[in-house]
Amino acid sequence: MGSMNMMKKPHAVCVPFPAQGHINPMLKLAKILHSKGFHITFVNTEFNHQRLLKSQGSDTLNRYTSFQFETIPDGLQPPENQDATQDIPSLCKSTSETCLEPFKTLLLKLNGATTTPPVSCIVSDGVMSFTLEAADELGIPDVLFWTTSACGFLAYAHYNTLRENGFIPLKDSADLTNGYLDTIVDCIPSMKGMRLKDMPTFLRSTNPDELMVKFCIRETARAKKASAIILNTFDELEHEVLTELSSIYPSVFSIGPLHTIANSMVENDLELLGSSLWKEDKDCLKWLNSKQANSVVYVNFGSITVMTAQQLVEFSWGLANSNQTFLWVIRPDLVSGDSRMLPPEFLEATRERGLLTSWCPQQKVLNHPSVGGFLTHSGWNSTIESISSGVPMICWPFFAEQQTNCWYSCNQWGIGMEIDSDVQRKQVEKLVRTLMVEEKGKEMRKMAMVWKKKAESSSSLLNIENLSNRVLRS
Ligand code: UDX
Repeated sequence: MGSMNMMKKPHAVCVPFPAQGHINPMLKLAKILHSKGFHITFVNTEFNHQRLLKSQGSDTLNRYTSFQFETIPDGLQPPENQDATQDIPSLCKSTSETCLEPFKTLLLKLNGATTTPPVSCIVSDGVMSFTLEAADELGIPDVLFWTTSACGFLAYAHYNTLRENGFIPLKDSADLTNGYLDTIVDCIPSMKGMRLKDMPTFLRSTNPDELMVKFCIRETARAKKASAIILNTFDELEHEVLTELSSIYPSVFSIGPLHTIANSMVENDLELLGSSLWKEDKDCLKWLNSKQANSVVYVNFGSITVMTAQQLVEFSWGLANSNQTFLWVIRPDLVSGDSRMLPPEFLEATRERGLLTSWCPQQKVLNHPSVGGFLTHSGWNSTIESISSGVPMICWPFFAEQQTNCWYSCNQWGIGMEIDSDVQRKQVEKLVRTLMVEEKGKEMRKMAMVWKKKAESSSSLLNIENLSNRVLRS
């Protein structure tokens, strides 16, 4: 394309929240917009961009003319461990307090450049809402991308309803353990039968002034100012919740599952552009090739979950005693404290049927025919990736809206079984067997395949088209 034409392209500046579960779906969306003719500037924090350069290689990141990367500081001191997820509440605080100025400076630089078209819209993470102010100054649309499930987002948005109905704040920390969290919360429209423990963890606090409580209230309120809200889900999956959200927020677009849509429409060249912050072990795919269809349990707790050494031991013996074949991804920073070692007897007992690695190409793993079940922390990306691969789940939610995702997976979509937060090897063993060899597991796999088909024929493609034409190019 000649440079004159190049300068006429719409230019979307994409700003993910600086964590793996947010960068991944934003990159998929950025690729889709690129394939629709947008010039893309993808804004990472300096810290994550260094990690990305290491995991992906600078040749890969810098090879495109109309897909460029820029950085802003995250406002935190560089952490000791350069290869671990940063503390999420600290990131929420520092990005909301410090990123606006460097972001405005970046926009000025982009608009002054002679080789890139003027910035015409911003697509920012829902929890990076400081971008609204910059968009307002430039008079351009700002679309907020909430990378949670729609049900998780709706629960956050109803903090005040829970408070007005007396469910929160908790009276004291004893409420976390005395059965209070089992109280049924039926004051949120379209969410019936859920317990307080199925609500996002940040809301269950004793202190209404706590950092994450205030952050969630502020971000869900500011979302009303966005040109549109987008969610990585599809209408059939979360119809009622999406309808309810549309009554609060004027313009809601469900545009997922983004990874499958991106895979189907992005040119081969851009396929090379990955967003894993850790180096992926691709050899596990070869190992999967040697296994029978639906015979492997895939175990992965995402990029943030931290468990105790004892929980790791319970999971390991649960897996060993289930007698099933498994692929278990143990991130270098998965276990808190020093004792990261798995019991040698466990390694000995499962040498023939277990593969351990530290980070994998998850979407490819979930799509592999050998994978028959997923033991997950119910992060939204993992959940939607599992759904669109037709893989049923065992859920061990850790924090944020993962509890809500877990409840929907188990109680609404028929594709999940929950493990108690106080994980015990006996329960892991039983649920893994149920998932992999029993009738109930087969039923769940069938159900997951039904959702996979529905995802393929959803209205999301049309919604992306409308988002692009009616909002981003307006
Ligand atoms: C979190 C929360 O889980 C999510 O619910 C919240 O809304 C945003 O951040 P995370 O805990 O990392 O993210 O989980 P998840 O949402 O599942 O995202 C992890 C991503 O990393 C997925 O896209 C997954 O495919 C990818 N991944 C994970 C890999 O590619 N390889 C791995 O080994 C592990």
